[in-house]
Amino acid sequence: MRLKRLAAAGTAAVVAATLTACGGFDTPSGGGEAEASGGAGGADAEKVFKVAFNQNAEQPEAVAMTHLGERLAERTDGRYSLEVFPNETLGAQKDTVELVQAGTVDFALVAGSLLENFNPDFVALNMPFAYDSQEHQEAVLNDPEITGDVYSSIEDQNIRVLGGFSAGTRSVYNSEKPITEPADLAGMKIRVMESDTNTRMMELMGGTGTPMGQGEVYTAIQSGVIEGGENNESIYANLKHAEVAPYYSYTKHLMIPDLLITSPAVFDTMSADDQAIFLEELQGAFDESSELTTKIMADSKAAAEEAGAEFNEPDVEPFRDAVAPLVDEKLTTDTSRELYDAVRAAAE
Ligand code: GCU
Repeated sequence: MRLKRLAAAGTAAVVAATLTACGGFDTPSGGGEAEASGGAGGADAEKVFKVAFNQNAEQPEAVAMTHLGERLAERTDGRYSLEVFPNETLGAQKDTVELVQAGTVDFALVAGSLLENFNPDFVALNMPFAYDSQEHQEAVLNDPEITGDVYSSIEDQNIRVLGGFSAGTRSVYNSEKPITEPADLAGMKIRVMESDTNTRMMELMGGTGTPMGQGEVYTAIQSGVIEGGENNESIYANLKHAEVAPYYSYTKHLMIPDLLITSPAVFDTMSADDQAIFLEELQGAFDESSELTTKIMADSKAAAEEAGAEFNEPDVEPFRDAVAPLVDEKLTTDTSRELYDAVRAAAE
């Protein structure tokens, strides 16, 4: 039955093959959905929501979501739980947005950039140098006064944003040399997330932005299709990008939030009380992930260094100046401008 539902989605074949390969979805029992395996966590419950995640199960958000599932099961007397499917098991982020829209996957963690494709105003949360710190970003992401409207703005496209996680600060890395100024990026193809804003950002920073899913980056660098990427220390170390691109330069240009999305049709199957429990416990997940994020970034830097990475600290001001035109280019509506102003005001 589940496979039939998956068949409705565009990426069904890949998803079905992956799930079968990792042992999921072929163990029907009286428990129905609750028996799905192949992910991390998944306390027993009548309904186990599937959560798509593109990173590994040790990453802060996966850990926090798994624990959220356990608390949810406890507080709803076993009515609901969550199971996190890491490592792009359910597809790259772009695909998982579609699976959420179709109701095939219940929740997904996706970089905010991807939602610009559904409402361009999301760009206000994804601008380079928009946040001064992780604390600043976290204060913005889960303040309904600031983000409430944009989070609910794409419900007509079957997407509801429940909140956001900070995913660290992104910097560039490449296979050739330390980057000390924008001119050093000339001629380099740097992988960016799949949004026009990120492609344009990289152009302004001096390089050429090549959009692709996270899972393809290692091979693309290794085969010389691109020279590097831009990401936080954790992804850099974890996906072993240091092996193929050992120069990590702290341009610190971007803090893209990871947003937890669901579809209203799925979320509203829960009673109002259960929804309230979910949202309350979600705050705990944000807190847990926040603490783990701080720690994992520091640990990852050390791990990457051990694997041969060389970190350098360029002056970030020339990069900040280089991307400044994006504000006028991208914040073209009153709502996006107001949202951006609110983001910046929260820094003060
Ligand atoms: C980070 C971020 C993800 C994003 C990824 C990427 O890991 O948390 O949401 O998908 O970077 O660069 O694709």
